[in-house]
Amino acid sequence: MTTSSVDVAQFTVVDGAPDSAWFINFMDVANALPEYAKIRRTLADGLGDLHGRNILDVGCGTGDDARELAEMVGPGGQVTGTDVSAAMVDEAQRRSAGSALPVTFRVDDVRNLAAADGTFDAVRAKLVLMHCADIDAAARELVRVTRSGGRIAVFDYDFDLTTVDHPDRDTTRELVRFCSDSHPNNWSGRQLARRFLDLGLRDITVVPHTVVMPLSFFQISVGNRLASAQADGSLGMSATELAAWWAPLHEAESQGRFFASLTGFAVSATR
Ligand SMILES: C[S@@+](CC[C@H](N)C(=O)[O-])C[C@H]1O[C@@H](n2cnc3c(N)ncnc32)[C@H](O)[C@@H]1O
Repeated sequence: MTTSSVDVAQFTVVDGAPDSAWFINFMDVANALPEYAKIRRTLADGLGDLHGRNILDVGCGTGDDARELAEMVGPGGQVTGTDVSAAMVDEAQRRSAGSALPVTFRVDDVRNLAAADGTFDAVRAKLVLMHCADIDAAARELVRVTRSGGRIAVFDYDFDLTTVDHPDRDTTRELVRFCSDSHPNNWSGRQLARRFLDLGLRDITVVPHTVVMPLSFFQISVGNRLASAQADGSLGMSATELAAWWAPLHEAESQGRFFASLTGFAVSATR
């Protein structure tokens, strides 16, 4: 089993983590999973007609999604990617070097965005609000910088909707719950529509997406979290007990029978 001092719970503070490259690799692996292309499509559809629009992608990470949007906006369109992590913004700028696409990146905290009220036609946040220490402040900021009649689209997981096919149900439930509770907003997915209603948004659409996780991705998401918690004592399991829990999963993988999934919700609305 992989051991690491870095794990998904630290997406809140990528720049303060020991290895920012780990998070860049994590997003590359995630974004290559087949369901993620569908999630990007759902979010783009949720933003309405993109042609010539001024779009903000908050928590843009490596900027791949912002570049994809920049290819969709056409002449007169503009995409801005922002992220609280300077390491992520550096990577996004590095990947855009020499490109003629209408996309720029800058460091900005979604809880206190630099943009003036109503700056953008459409605002998007994929896998970001669930990592924010103050999710209400972040959601209010998304609304504030969107013009009246503009569109907002958010995708977040609901970490209690993690499944893994394992013979030991009780331990598996405990470990899934432990990992879920490691996230500051582990129920964000199920709360997004209600949050949007509370913010006065209208025309709300909810699209669920279930990501089937290969063992390799399950290991760097759930596995690294459990390994960190085992190492710092917060898991309350010995390394031997944790390894024993992994054994049937590796056995299943060797037989082509491993199954795990995670469900989230893409929610879009009009300001
Ligand atoms: C799971 S990654 C998602 C990145 C990108 N949206 C994607 O889907 O590829 C979460 C991102 O949110 C950023 N983030 C976390 N807290 C933030 C905040 N308060 N303001 C802006 N970005 C934040 C992290 O630095 C990280 O790049």
